Amino acid sequence: MEKPLIQIKNLKKKIKGKWIIKGISFDLYPGEVFGFLGPNGAGKTTTIRMMVGLTSITEGEVLIEGYSIAKNYEKAIAKVGGIVENPDMYKFLTGYKNLELYARMSPGVSKKRIDEVVKIVELEHAIHQKVSTYSLGMRQRLGLAQALLHQPSVLILDEPTNGLDPAGIHDLRNYLRRLAKEEQMAILVSSHLLSEMEMMCDRIGIIQNGELIRVETVRDLIEKDEQAKQVLFEVEPIHVAQQVIEQHFPQKRVERVEKGVIISLSRSEIPAVSALLVSNQVQLFGIQRKSKSLEEKFLEITHQ
Ligand SMILES: Nc1ncnc2c1ncn2[C@@H]1O[C@H](COP(=O)(O)OP(=O)(O)O)[C@@H](O)[C@H]1O
Ligand SMILES: [Mg+2]
Repeated sequence: MEKPLIQIKNLKKKIKGKWIIKGISFDLYPGEVFGFLGPNGAGKTTTIRMMVGLTSITEGEVLIEGYSIAKNYEKAIAKVGGIVENPDMYKFLTGYKNLELYARMSPGVSKKRIDEVVKIVELEHAIHQKVSTYSLGMRQRLGLAQALLHQPSVLILDEPTNGLDPAGIHDLRNYLRRLAKEEQMAILVSSHLLSEMEMMCDRIGIIQNGELIRVETVRDLIEKDEQAKQVLFEVEPIHVAQQVIEQHFPQKRVERVEKGVIISLSRSEIPAVSALLVSNQVQLFGIQRKSKSLEEKFLEITHQ
């Protein structure tokens, strides 16, 4: 197993006598986009603020490339790029000037690096325009460029899709995936919307009431359901289909509907049933497996 770039160990936060974050642990690996998913008020921003040293840690620790954000802040933060609050931009300066100003505060950022990040976020055409003329999506990209200037190995973005239109979300997803894969960065993106996370992330951690209640790969979330599901076979003639299935699968209950028959099958049983129908001269027009959407699963997991 690769070495994690970030290790979160039993992280806790108490604010005004109340436990807001109740012991969160997870690791982030190079090359992955990790979705930090949870309803509003779950504790995403508070966790992220602790991760980047914007607020103190009550208990537990955050290690970035092995450096503790609490005990070794300078070394740890040098590896992190983040957009937590709205990035401060000078609206009446150009995008380029903003990056230059920011670069001056980060040691070792060259002019060449500024050009590189502008290219990564595809702002070449607008970088010499004033930020006041930018769309929200362009400002987001400028923020991302700024976060990337010092070549961090970890990128942390709190609800970066907020306020973006579908095209902007699509673009952001592409940049983040590319950065993770090509630069082998670890990227954490928070959101309260599963539908966005599903396409952007490799893994999803679900946070609720200050606890990480589940961490899973998106693939597992989608595929980990070999249990039987209702399968609709659109067929003709329907009564023949019902007969042959009942004959060969006496333990199955076959329900007739307007367009065909519905039976409860696991994924691996579907080919046998289809073959049976076809070999009995039943015309097969379609097969639909009613699967729970990720959204439904998310609601189920969080009991909303
Ligand atoms: N400074 C604070 N004082 C009191 N409560 C806070 C403070 N910051 C956050 N909280 C509470 O902590 C919980 C988690 O908030 P937050 O981390 O912002 O959630 P999220 O980002 O997931 O929406 C909320 O109930 C919020 O009201
Ligand atoms: Mg938040």
